[in-house]
Amino acid sequence: MLTRKEFAKQILANHTPSIKEKATAFAPANIALVKYWGKRDKELNLPVTDSLSIDLGNLGTETTIEPADKDAVILNGTELALDNTFAAKVIDFVNLFRNTVNQAVANQPALRITTDNNIPTGAGVASSASGFAALTKALDQFYSLGLSGRELSLMANLGSGSASRSIFKGFVYRHAGTDPNGMDSYSEPLSCTWPELKIGLITVSAKAKRVSSREGMERTVATSPLYKTWPQQVQNDMAKMLAAIKEKDFELMGSTAESNALAMHECMRAATPPLNYFEPETEAIISKVQKLRREGLPLYLTIDAGPNVKLLFQEKDTHTIKTEFPDMRVI
Ligand code: DP6
Repeated sequence: MLTRKEFAKQILANHTPSIKEKATAFAPANIALVKYWGKRDKELNLPVTDSLSIDLGNLGTETTIEPADKDAVILNGTELALDNTFAAKVIDFVNLFRNTVNQAVANQPALRITTDNNIPTGAGVASSASGFAALTKALDQFYSLGLSGRELSLMANLGSGSASRSIFKGFVYRHAGTDPNGMDSYSEPLSCTWPELKIGLITVSAKAKRVSSREGMERTVATSPLYKTWPQQVQNDMAKMLAAIKEKDFELMGSTAESNALAMHECMRAATPPLNYFEPETEAIISKVQKLRREGLPLYLTIDAGPNVKLLFQEKDTHTIKTEFPDMRVI
């Protein structure tokens, strides 16, 4: 089995680096319609199941990399101390590239890494997904590596599982893979588009979450009796989701996404100690969505590891839904 460093080396070794003066890349945030929750390997950050997401358009992260006298990490305009958790994670990830590339490029400079998120950091709107995807793309450009989409998704996964999907736009399929070395655990874009499909973001809280996805997954896998049936649930939901996207069957897409998300949260609540990401307002929004649906409005929801709710609806219903949820931001 490979270590993270060996994994990175295997992917980067086939590419000849040279350093650019500056590189900037953007990656969108994404929301999973069929969720990733649980790892089959912690070192390489490999998921137990496949997952499927859609990107959040121009909501995401822009990252710039430039040579500097000493390493610096700037997040949303503020330079962070290098022992700050976020900065340490960024530098650790950068080193996966830098240490491999070092052998090929002499006199390598320190780096200034500037990250700008236009989504709330740590609020369950997956800023780690767009963050590591943008960082991966920026490093690829800075070192002129020319990684393929698949290779970018494999590298981004070392930062965060959901980042693997944020390499691409539109609907993205993440393969869990079975290779112990993780080389078949990549993401790829699906060729279909669905312009009528809209996503509404309702921010219940922009505060960082109490329990990270990483810790929450570990606890769920280790202690939740409901986790035993989760991989099968994902497999069933994935078949429905792929059919729904292909047929543009909104009801099937929405109902599958909602039941998949709620099943994931049930699984978490059955963990010891229980893991509950919902706030009272989250519960109120769920009830309201389900009531509106009973009254005939085609409206569904999904929720990641946080209290915020993402609504799924069709363009034709935007006005009605905006009236019901005035604080919603439409993607
Ligand atoms: C609930 O990708 O944040 O959003 O791989 O440990 O960094 P790590 O986890 P992360 O988990 C995302 C969990 C989720 C579901 C999903 O996006 O599929």
